[in-house]
This record gives sequence, structure tokens and C-alpha cells, in this order.
Amino acid sequence: MKDRTLLIQKVINQLKADYYLEIGINYGINILNVICPRKLGVDPRVRITPRKKIFSYFKNPSNLFNRLYPCTSDKFFENNENFLKKIGLDVVFIDGLHTYDQSLRDVLNTLKFLNDNGIIIMHDVNPISKRSAQFGRLGDTWKTIIHLRSKHNDLKIFVLECETGIGIITKGKPKNTLKLDPSEIKKLTYEDLRRNRKEYLNLRDSDYFFKFLKSLRSNTQITLFSKILYDFILKTLFRFKPLLYLYKTIP
Ligand SMILES: C[S@@+](CC[C@H](N)C(=O)[O-])C[C@H]1O[C@@H](n2cnc3c(N)ncnc32)[C@H](O)[C@@H]1O
Repeated sequence: MKDRTLLIQKVINQLKADYYLEIGINYGINILNVICPRKLGVDPRVRITPRKKIFSYFKNPSNLFNRLYPCTSDKFFENNENFLKKIGLDVVFIDGLHTYDQSLRDVLNTLKFLNDNGIIIMHDVNPISKRSAQFGRLGDTWKTIIHLRSKHNDLKIFVLECETGIGIITKGKPKNTLKLDPSEIKKLTYEDLRRNRKEYLNLRDSDYFFKFLKSLRSNTQITLFSKILYDFILKTLFRFKPLLYLYKTIP
């Protein structure tokens, strides 16, 4: 299992999260392995084959309740405003189009529906070479971290030195911020990032992450009740396996 999947799972478990959203799901390597009562996935090019989908139901039954949206993240937020307002998002993994503009828009749109104790996790925000920071690879999503740390003093943000950089964003007063304008951020080069990496990204190690994890508030008792109900339904489905086939048509 990938590091990002383990990290996301730890956050989901700690929060007792109900709703998980992943922007950019590709082959489903991450979303199909994450366990959460309700998972939403958005990607204009979903590459999960029907065979893989069915297999995933047996490997991880929480996939029975997945909702996959074959569209861009902008369209998803535009078309599902009422639904998202009603449910509220607990954990959101942003891993779609890797550009400053789009990843920033993904964060700002997510914030409209994020529960107060919710968490945004951003992938690929710490490229370790000029080559990996090119468009088509990790791109300049790292600039979104700098932007948010400069312009949103109501968000706590750090980047974990794990995989290609995992940004963690929660609501609350930050201990440290930056003071760059969007026009300055746009002009930043990879060399600027290399020279100021620790300061720009508020880089942290795994010890910090585990302390942070312990500090998270979990959801309410209603969530606990819905989780018990969810466990019960899954156990029943497994006892009577033919029932699983009824769910094959769930998108
Ligand atoms: C790096 S992959 C995602 C990998 C996946 N999250 C995982 O962990 O296995 C990026 C995905 O973002 C999708 N994507 C590109 N533009 C997008 C957009 N505007 N909205 C949502 N997804 C987008 C691509 O089609 C691609 O499948």
C-alpha cells in the first residue's frame, strides 16, 4: 500500500470520517484502497475498468458505496453544490490537475464544503528537482501552499516530507505565515523553491504528523451510530454473498 493511502487512512480513522472526496483518481490505486463509509471520486478520465471495480468490492467492501464523477473538479463543484452542502466533507485528497491555478481553485472550492474539523490533503507539493516540477509532472502545485500561507490566516498548513510532498490543511489560526502576493508567487521559479523550501512549505517530519494526528477532533456520536449501521450492513452482505450482486450496478 502507498504511503499516501496509509496516511489518508490514518486521518480518516482518527476523524471517524464519513465523507471522503478524491480529486483526480486515475486508475483508482488510492481511492479503491481507502476505507471510508462514503467515498466520492472526481476525474474527467476515470481509468477504473469494470473488472477492477467489481474486484474492489470484494477486496474492500466500502467501494460498494462509491460515487464516481467523470468530469473536471470545477464542473463537479458547480453541479453538486446542494448535495455537498448537505453532506459536508471530512477528508479531501487533492491530486487532480497539477497547476497553481487549478489546485488553488480545488482548495478554495473544497473549503466551501469542508466540515470545521475536516482536513484537506494535497499531493505532489514538494518537487525535489527542476525536472519533476515541470508541467505534466508535479507542476507548480507547490505555489498553492505558498499562496494559502500568505493569503489565508484562517488556515493551518504544513507539508510532510513523504512521497513527493503531502500538504496538510486544516481550519484554524496558523503559528506562522508568509507575506507574498499572488503576482510575486506567479513569478517564483524552482530555484526560489530550492533555496527557501523549508520556509515556503513549512516542511515537517513524521513525528510532527503523528502529534498532529493525535490532536484531531473526531466526528460526533451521530457519526458513530452511522458507522455501526454501516458495519452491520457490510457484515450482513458478507454473510449473504448473493446480496452483493444487487449492488453491482451502484456507480
Ligand atoms: C496523479 S493522477 C491521480 C492519482 C490518484 N490520486 C492516486 O493517488 O492514485 C491525476 C489525475 O487527475 C486527473 N485530472 C486532470 N485534470 C483534472 C481536473 N480538472 N479535475 C479532476 N481531475 C483531473 C487526471 O485525469 C489524472 O487521472
